[in-house]
Amino acid sequence: MTDQLIEQAIQMRSKAIAPYSKYKVGSAILTVSGKIFGGCNVESSSYGLTCCAERIAIYNAVSNGHTKFSALAVATNNGGKPCGACRQVIWDICGEISIYITDVSGNINNTTSSELLPNAFDKSSL
Ligand code: THU
Repeated sequence: MTDQLIEQAIQMRSKAIAPYSKYKVGSAILTVSGKIFGGCNVESSSYGLTCCAERIAIYNAVSNGHTKFSALAVATNNGGKPCGACRQVIWDICGEISIYITDVSGNINNTTSSELLPNAFDKSSL
């Protein structure tokens, strides 16, 4: 299942709309029920409106009725890690999950939500 998840993230990179940064990102999220949902980054000429691949994958899954997740994969050219905004959303929506970050050479970095966002702010603080 992890292989499929990573493969889906790699495939999603080809759907990215990234004419400004040229940095294509693909992502895929695995639900506890075994379904995979993908996302890619979508940039806007008003740069701040850009949305990252990870958040699009998560919102894709959530908008298809899923709320429990077990893993997320991210694919970039160089193995770049999720941005701070995505780390917060991953923690808020997915909690502690496995995260696989891959590059075009096939290197895979295994991490977790809490490793990416230690001492997170979340609903328990409200
Ligand atoms: N990007 C992502 O899709 N995910 C991240 O976690 C980091 C950044 C995108 C946003 C923008 O389209 C491009 O990468 C360069 O920042």
